[in-house]
Amino acid sequence: MIVGVPKEIKTDEYRVAMIPVGVEELTRAGQQVLIETGAGAGSGITDGDYGNNGAEIVGSAAEVYRRAELVVKVKEPQPSEWPLLRSGQVMLTYFHFAADEPLLRAVLESGITAVAYETIRDDRGGHPLLTPMSEVAGRMSIQEGAKYLERPQEGRGLLLGGVPGVAPAHVVVIGGGVVGTNAAKVAAGLGAHVVILDINVDRLRYLSDILPANVTTLYSDRHTIRDEIARADLLIGAVLLEGARTPQLVTRHDLKRMQAGAVIVDVSIDQGGCVETARPTTHSQPTYMVDGVVHYCVTNMPGAVGRTSTYALTNVTLPYVLEIAGAGLDAAARRNAAIARGINVRGGRVTNRAVAETFGLEWARAVESN
Ligand SMILES: NC(=O)c1ccc[n+]([C@@H]2O[C@H](COP(=O)([O-])OP(=O)(O)OC[C@H]3O[C@@H](n4cnc5c(N)ncnc54)[C@H](O)[C@@H]3O)[C@@H](O)[C@H]2O)c1
Repeated sequence: MIVGVPKEIKTDEYRVAMIPVGVEELTRAGQQVLIETGAGAGSGITDGDYGNNGAEIVGSAAEVYRRAELVVKVKEPQPSEWPLLRSGQVMLTYFHFAADEPLLRAVLESGITAVAYETIRDDRGGHPLLTPMSEVAGRMSIQEGAKYLERPQEGRGLLLGGVPGVAPAHVVVIGGGVVGTNAAKVAAGLGAHVVILDINVDRLRYLSDILPANVTTLYSDRHTIRDEIARADLLIGAVLLEGARTPQLVTRHDLKRMQAGAVIVDVSIDQGGCVETARPTTHSQPTYMVDGVVHYCVTNMPGAVGRTSTYALTNVTLPYVLEIAGAGLDAAARRNAAIARGINVRGGRVTNRAVAETFGLEWARAVESN
């Protein structure tokens, strides 16, 4: 199979979907790999690094899309890439369709098969291709939040951990999954007072066992959220309902309860965001103010730490790329239900129930085992 890797063109995206060892493994398995020139530059990987491992370096994204049977990416195809998609081609990337109807329409029309990293789910309910990026974003959310709490960045002028004699910041994390747990760990490690909320009581039990004493677990309901956001110096949005738009747990009205100069980092913005006033931003212009509250809503947070993220992502994507390239998508999806669950669009139809329900569309099964 011809596997193609275009350069990522989303604003401030420095990741790439394949590292040289991936090229080596694919070519050893008999596949042909096309890499767009400069694709690895943001992650410190040169064309030579790929070429030395068996890749053919091609001069344009158009050539990658024209020749590749399997396109492997990091972010959803951007509007300028939509005309390049070819019917019958398989694309493996993060799509986050529930937050982007124009993208879904474009992909349906293109006739490609869209395999979404974020809905590949293993038999234990885990999301193996979401986890490493959530680990990065969760840890980074505190690093960014701490920065925007500084006064020159319009924050409250607080040091997250305080100092002897001065109280630490109050950090509220909504959602105790991978992002939330990593955020809580880092914030607690810096000495902040942390509260983490979830609706899954077993998850709260687990978090209460493993997290340090400066983290309090709370059940997530309307009243608790409203009480906690009034105290928050830093609020992290880390909620996920698979495939669906994130529920808006903090309304525009609730925002008035927050302290001036408090910071919201809504990590869940890629699925729509759990704060009503959140709208997508980029690393070049990551924040904006609403009612005196700093909003940080970058949709591709891991992109800024491209080296760490590229390696963390490709560690987990390569086995799937090898499996799909080796067996073809149909056979791979029949024998590996995780891959079948990843197929969101096929033959112009939505094949993920949550995505279809989000837009009131019909859905079809991708394969019999799905
Ligand atoms: N912005 C970025 O760059 C970036 C990067 C990585 C992940 N993300 C996003 O971060 C979000 C979280 O990802 P994750 O990997 O931690 O997901 P996860 O599934 O591990 O965790 C989500 C948690 O939210 C909880 N939850 C659901 N409804 C809730 C509610 N009403 N109140 C409180 N908690 C609730 C779930 O019980 C679960 O524990 C996703 O939207 C993901 O796409 C964004």
